[in-house]
Amino acid sequence: MLRRFLKALLCNAFKNLLGLGLSAKRCNLVPIATDFNMIDLDTTQSHHRLNIDASQLSQGLCGKITIPGDKSISHRALMLGSLAEGETTIRGLLLGEDPRSTAACFSAMGADISELNSELVTVRGIGLGNLREPLDVLNAGNSGTTLRLMLGILASHPDRFFTVTGDRSLRSRPMSRVVNPLRQMGANIWGRENAARAPLAIIGQNLKAIHYQSPVASAQVKSCIMLAGLMTDGETMITEPERSRDHSERMLSAFGATVTVDIDSNTVSVKGGAKLVGQQVTVPGDISSAAFWLVAASIVPNSDLLIENVGINPTRTGILEVLAEMGADITYENRREVTGEPVADLRVRSADLKACRISGAVIPRLIDEIPILAIAATCAQGTTVIADAEELRVKESDRIIAMVKEMTKLGATVTEHPDGMEIVGGKILTGTDVESYDDHRVAMSLAIAALVAKGKTSINRAESAAISYPSFIPTLQTLYS
Ligand code: S3P
Repeated sequence: MLRRFLKALLCNAFKNLLGLGLSAKRCNLVPIATDFNMIDLDTTQSHHRLNIDASQLSQGLCGKITIPGDKSISHRALMLGSLAEGETTIRGLLLGEDPRSTAACFSAMGADISELNSELVTVRGIGLGNLREPLDVLNAGNSGTTLRLMLGILASHPDRFFTVTGDRSLRSRPMSRVVNPLRQMGANIWGRENAARAPLAIIGQNLKAIHYQSPVASAQVKSCIMLAGLMTDGETMITEPERSRDHSERMLSAFGATVTVDIDSNTVSVKGGAKLVGQQVTVPGDISSAAFWLVAASIVPNSDLLIENVGINPTRTGILEVLAEMGADITYENRREVTGEPVADLRVRSADLKACRISGAVIPRLIDEIPILAIAATCAQGTTVIADAEELRVKESDRIIAMVKEMTKLGATVTEHPDGMEIVGGKILTGTDVESYDDHRVAMSLAIAALVAKGKTSINRAESAAISYPSFIPTLQTLYS
């Protein structure tokens, strides 16, 4: 009795401490709350292990949660705020490690960025073209968006020398996709394998405008070239094979750049020479983080979860379309617009899922959600095929290999394809030791798989979740406390 009371007291204190905005409203007819330590983070080793014992988790995911700010929008707000004249305020910034890397890089080049918090961050920009030569190497950590977008900015800042690097994962990821078009614009960039991999050295130049036909649908490539175009005379254009996320187009326009978008031909353009002016940005919740709960509440029986303040930009909502096709029960409430981005609260209830094919033009609109969709597929009736997704091989890890290997360890029937995978659904998963490959989305997807697996799952290197979702594990614990 006393133990139970103390535990309840502790859980409440924990919730208050975290300020998760998580309401403890429970589903009807669910068993009494489970033990807190059935979801436990072992931090005794240098790498953290997330242990989830699903046999003890008999309730659904219920209540109301808020999710952290959108990672893509957070990076862009920090970057454009740094390049603008005057003050930018950012509300709801993601406090993950990736945006912290962006803030550190731009502070090192003279932007005055206040202490990062999710309430209010102020950025005093130094005006386009005025970035200072940093005294040290710029380190983008694990963040491909920081490094690739920043390269467009650095390459177009004449007569300054920059060196950029990242962690082991980022140093192995391809940079030629941005270095090649920047070189066509006249950029001077050096590095290993003809500047295909970081570390890279850059001497900024006056660049020339080009029309780049990108072989990949990538918002990082598109945004890099657009940012380089800001300081380049004339009109810089990029055409991509499919439409990728459009946060740069929206935010650049809001800050005063001349941007045009031709949706029919997937072409965007930016005119050089405009002045950027500081803005008030409110960052919506990240649909890529909401994705874990959208799938969790769909596959864990007796769930009824309201996810508040989710960005539903149509270039990001592929996951909602695919889950709808799979039979998920998700409804939109309180649709609204927040600083130029559509937002809604999403209510998700458990449902019987069926398999589907995920391929073609939808892929860039759900590329980061494929690991968690693969988990959803293990619980769906029939065989789900994921194709045209070779881009997954060059994310924070090779996400095709990572997911196929780790799902197989959990007992899923899954086959690797060069451009995706095939998952036979309906087989009960069994908990075991799995690896995150230091990839935040792999770690969190495996944690959701653990909720429906028999017995105990132990996810190694689970601390990587903090890259994009520092409160993921506390939120999971609180949902089950
Ligand atoms: C991002 C674009 C995507 C995505 C990444 C964030 C962005 O990468 O996977 O997490 O903010 O522009 P690609 O542009 O390489 O597809």
